[in-house]
Amino acid sequence: MNTTSPLAATGPNADQIDYWNSDVGERWARFQDRLDGMLQPFSDAVLDLAGIKRGERIMDVGCGCGATTFDAAAKTGASGRALGVDISAPMVARAKARALELGSPAEFMLADAATHDFGADTFDLLVSRFGIMFFAEPAAAFAHMKKALAPSGRVAFVCWRPMKENGWVSVPLFAALPHLPEQEPPVPGAPGPFAFADPERFRGILREAGYRDIAIDPFDTELTLGKGPDPVALALEQTLEIGPLSRALKEQPEAVRARATDAVREALAKHEANGEIRLAGAVWLVSASA
Ligand SMILES: C[S@@+](CC[C@H](N)C(=O)[O-])C[C@H]1O[C@@H](n2cnc3c(N)ncnc32)[C@H](O)[C@@H]1O
Repeated sequence: MNTTSPLAATGPNADQIDYWNSDVGERWARFQDRLDGMLQPFSDAVLDLAGIKRGERIMDVGCGCGATTFDAAAKTGASGRALGVDISAPMVARAKARALELGSPAEFMLADAATHDFGADTFDLLVSRFGIMFFAEPAAAFAHMKKALAPSGRVAFVCWRPMKENGWVSVPLFAALPHLPEQEPPVPGAPGPFAFADPERFRGILREAGYRDIAIDPFDTELTLGKGPDPVALALEQTLEIGPLSRALKEQPEAVRARATDAVREALAKHEANGEIRLAGAVWLVSASA
């Protein structure tokens, strides 16, 4: 098994390996606790969909700091196995440290899930909370991971619907945009959080990769971006550090960042209710058999 030493940035996903091992991975590891609080409803939804039975062998693809792997490990129990796989050394290091803190049997591996040889019939189930949208060659990646599944294997994934349905991204980003130089429009389907926003594209990719019984259903909830004595400050800090707005602000001059930050603060404050900032989170719940 790999250690948490940096993974060589080679193969089709070299750009993503660089990206998730940059300060981005460090920030996700630093914000792990808050992000996991915010994203827990999606772990619950995807693991409900997966219907884990005791003793099953599970891979959590793009496990990050491991929250969903820990939940999967608890469900499969001591006779099963839950392995989290991720390309980000800082996040895998955080996951391993948390496994010790929590006394969880979950295991973690630093590897590219799209290319690592896991062996045949190694898993009964692949799960992922937002870890499967970053493959440069998605059909090849899903076909590769299918080889690691038992013939009766299955998958359960959660991924974002379009940005405009996801207020947790669109509210801060759209508030900032008028203050930023014109941004390149995102390339539909490019690796990134919204790569599978179009469910028919995702269905086609899974079909091409050889999966059957593909079901893609919407799930809606709210994400708590901030709560406590100053929810706006917490929500602002997080949106400036993690996600599409942080990318848009990167390398902007200080004056531009300051104007955009003021606009985002004002937009977030409009959503404060009962001491919390809650914004829409819209996802696809995806299942298929091998
Ligand atoms: C949006 S984060 C989600 C992390 C975690 N699943 C969670 O919900 O907190 C996406 C994760 O996918 C990982 N990732 C991207 N491409 C990957 C690949 N080819 N193999 C394994 N992990 C990958 C990233 O390093 C990152 O940790």
